[in-house]
Amino acid sequence: MLVFWEKVILPLLNWAGAKKIVEIGSEFGGNTYKLLNYCGATNGQLFAIDPAPQYDVHEYKRMFHKQFHMILDYSLEILPHLNGYDFVLIDGDHNWYTVFNELKIIETMAMKTGKFPAVLLHDTEWPYGRRDMYYFPESIPPAFTIPYAQKGMEHGRSELLESGGVNWILNNAIYENGERNGVLTAIEDFLQHTRLHLSFHQLHSHNGLGIITTKNRYSDEQIKTILSASQL
Ligand SMILES: C[S@@+](CC[C@H](N)C(=O)[O-])C[C@H]1O[C@@H](n2cnc3c(N)ncnc32)[C@H](O)[C@@H]1O
Repeated sequence: MLVFWEKVILPLLNWAGAKKIVEIGSEFGGNTYKLLNYCGATNGQLFAIDPAPQYDVHEYKRMFHKQFHMILDYSLEILPHLNGYDFVLIDGDHNWYTVFNELKIIETMAMKTGKFPAVLLHDTEWPYGRRDMYYFPESIPPAFTIPYAQKGMEHGRSELLESGGVNWILNNAIYENGERNGVLTAIEDFLQHTRLHLSFHQLHSHNGLGIITTKNRYSDEQIKTILSASQL
């Protein structure tokens, strides 16, 4: 998500006046570091959720002890226990079950507080817009797990490749498209069923970025302006 930082994420944080941020999936901590600097400058708080971050969490805690709350667990275990957040970045497990339920938990929080946060979701385009991937398949109920293999992908081809290809090291669903498959499908299913009035904006570059916000003509225009100015 780092590629979106300067031209999209930071302008959106400023637009939202974000104070309590949730980051799902922090991996090497690049985006986390930027978010913590933002929190330092604005008196904000960051709740980062990742069962397996690959950076020195203690060092980050030392640098940003007032702003940084790191939770080493799955998003679906932790999100129900967080409240009152106003900005969420979703970039954790890239599959229908996880993303759909992350959005449902955020919706439940918003029903209680009356405020839906700005929600940014990475990987709304190929390869994971219409195909599940499982970082932690054991955390997904079998009924919602599409058969998967550690094999690579090629754009425009549903079957996985026998050798090579994109992300061959990850657990990729063996076919693309169809029901309950992929990040964008999860977002569409959520938007179709929610009773909240929400807007969905999209950037199509860099594997895609989706943005869900409360529907409002004035803020929709502001977001469109930020996205088109980004030229991404
Ligand atoms: C694509 S990386 C995140 C990249 C990061 N957002 C960035 O912009 O640099 C995905 C991360 O999500 C974490 N992850 C996978 N499943 C998760 C889950 N259910 N809840 C939270 N984090 C998860 C993985 O451990 C991994 O570190």
